[in-house]
Amino acid sequence: MENAPILGKSKLVPCVQELAKSCPNKIPQRYIQSHDLYNDQDHCDAHDLQLQIPIINMEALICGDGVELEKLHSTCQEWGFFQLINHEVSSSLIEKFKLETKEFFDLPLEEKKRYWQTPTDFEGFGQAFVLSDEQKLDWADMFFLTMLPKHLRKSHLFPNLPLPYRDTLEKYSTEMKTLATKMLGYMAKALKISDENVFGEGHQSIRMNYYPPCPLPEKAIGLTSHTDETVLITILLQISQVEGLQILKDNRWVPVKPQPDAFIVNIGDVLELMTNGMYRSVTHRAVVNAEKERISVATFHSPALDVEVGPIPKLLNNNNNPPRFTRISMLDYWNMFLDRPLHHHAKKCLDFLTIHHTT
Ligand code: OGA
Ligand code: NI
Repeated sequence: MENAPILGKSKLVPCVQELAKSCPNKIPQRYIQSHDLYNDQDHCDAHDLQLQIPIINMEALICGDGVELEKLHSTCQEWGFFQLINHEVSSSLIEKFKLETKEFFDLPLEEKKRYWQTPTDFEGFGQAFVLSDEQKLDWADMFFLTMLPKHLRKSHLFPNLPLPYRDTLEKYSTEMKTLATKMLGYMAKALKISDENVFGEGHQSIRMNYYPPCPLPEKAIGLTSHTDETVLITILLQISQVEGLQILKDNRWVPVKPQPDAFIVNIGDVLELMTNGMYRSVTHRAVVNAEKERISVATFHSPALDVEVGPIPKLLNNNNNPPRFTRISMLDYWNMFLDRPLHHHAKKCLDFLTIHHTT
């Protein structure tokens, strides 16, 4: 049985795309962070650093090349992020989806208002986890919607989207589901935990991010640092090659240089939990720049709401590798995620689910 739809509370915020258009040289105080992002001790200058997230070639995985599978395995353990090339998703569909997504964000504000968040539901346009008027805001608009299972779609969102975008998004969602299932299958193989669908992904949501140019890029953040909490894996598409995504590797921010025709794939907290910490969900953020807008689409794949998740028994060995996390149903996971007091500085769900063993 499927459960009730999930709601989440968030205060309503202005459209940042409109703010940037109407006032291109100024940013309101609410978007100015208290510290300088680039004087951050942790920040690593992109110019000194050749470090790049690994590239996984899906063709080599399909050919049964054990070398690529081994690379996937070590990448998921050490990086939690990779770029996926030769992924077999139709490039004409991707191009169409990119174009129409940009057109969707460029719709007049009056039309976009039909899809705006409400005070009790964070799906639609807006920003997630805004709980106070004092809180700093991200320099971006998001458009969030649940895609699968279909009966959890909000009636004012997907079914109301303009054509042909609605059809293109449906096709894109289907392709992402297929790709996520394949990638999770390879991960199960790499973990030697059988080739059946052990992760049970049945829930998909999409978060589109619009980052307008920003007159003070060192003072504003596009997307606050986070991990993808309720997620097994995320597949990210960049609408253009504009850089902005950074991942925290050994305490330094590593910028991701998007390869044309690649997806950026990352491990979420639920996969970290199920692999008992073997695969890592890595902190990441998006920075903004002064000249160019940037658009990205993150597709999140999670287990269905009625699934209980926990460390996979085959990966546990009672003496050397006891369970590091407690079991939880995905519905409780989502409720914990959405109910948490302040997103930005609070601990994440996985911290509350961690078992502390005494040695
Ligand atoms: C996200 C995310 C990164 C980006 O939506 O969870 O991390 O580059 N996006 O937009
Ligand atoms: Ni993310």
